[in-house]
Amino acid sequence: MTKEIKVFAPASVSNIACGFDTMGFAVDRPGDELVLRRIEEKSIVIKSITGDDGCLTKEVSKNTAGLPIIELFKDFNLPGGVEIELHKKMPLGSGLGSSAASAVAAAFAMNNLFDLNLTNMELLPYAIKGEELASGAIHADNVAPCLFGGFILIRSYDPIDIIELPVPDNLYCSILHLDVKINTKESRKLLPTEVPLNLAIKHWGNTAGLIAGLYKNDIALIGRAIEDFIIEPIRGNFIPNYYKIKQAAYNAGAVGCNISGSGPSVFALSDNAETAKNISRDMENAAGEINIKTCSFVSKVNKVGPKIIYKN
Ligand code: HSE
Repeated sequence: MTKEIKVFAPASVSNIACGFDTMGFAVDRPGDELVLRRIEEKSIVIKSITGDDGCLTKEVSKNTAGLPIIELFKDFNLPGGVEIELHKKMPLGSGLGSSAASAVAAAFAMNNLFDLNLTNMELLPYAIKGEELASGAIHADNVAPCLFGGFILIRSYDPIDIIELPVPDNLYCSILHLDVKINTKESRKLLPTEVPLNLAIKHWGNTAGLIAGLYKNDIALIGRAIEDFIIEPIRGNFIPNYYKIKQAAYNAGAVGCNISGSGPSVFALSDNAETAKNISRDMENAAGEINIKTCSFVSKVNKVGPKIIYKN
């Protein structure tokens, strides 16, 4: 019987400009780590959280990693309890699916610790519940790519319909994170509730174009489709130097650049590793004009999702 497990769950880039709440992809780094240990007492305890600067609650039912565990214990009438150690290895409120990574890590660890043999589709609702605590809305565009790996389309939420999309092998993602906190829950309140038809038409074209680009291995088409006329004009204002950073990414060879999730992280896509590194460097330089801490990552699309670091 497995007593303890340590897992990794990756960050993800969601929305991809034209796919608000409906698209996202996982990246190799950064990501969260979570240790889950069986205990005899019938309790679920968050023993420690690191890397969160004390920002996250240890109250299990209010923690994004805690809630999926509570729900799985309930639904499967599991014996005993667990201790949780959560290691946040990515900035909170970053637009990189930090809360989704914790929720997925928890659900994935439970599945493996208790040999539940649940499929990703079966685990998904548990991870979504955890994520909902942080964002105040049901959206799976971080949770689904984090759990399934790869590039994911959520065609419908009711009923949930997840489609795994192909990804060109040479698609690279450069991510710039700026040390500004953006609360997804609050930021969603600022978005329009209605969209004019002329903008909707542009978005339909781009969303379809993005999917076609993925199937055709056409990175230039993928790049052309990375446009957002609805959300970016609002959220772009909350990211210091955003439009300069975006221009720097394009100047360095990006095919597409936009806001990752609700920001402040910015992602840029390119077709080779060297360009991806240059984009990352130039985005950092553009952000360097302002006095804000930054960090950057270069990654391919992560096709694996969460993984076990050890179990014993
Ligand atoms: N689709 C969500 C949003 C993702 O943009 O609000 C949050 O990271």
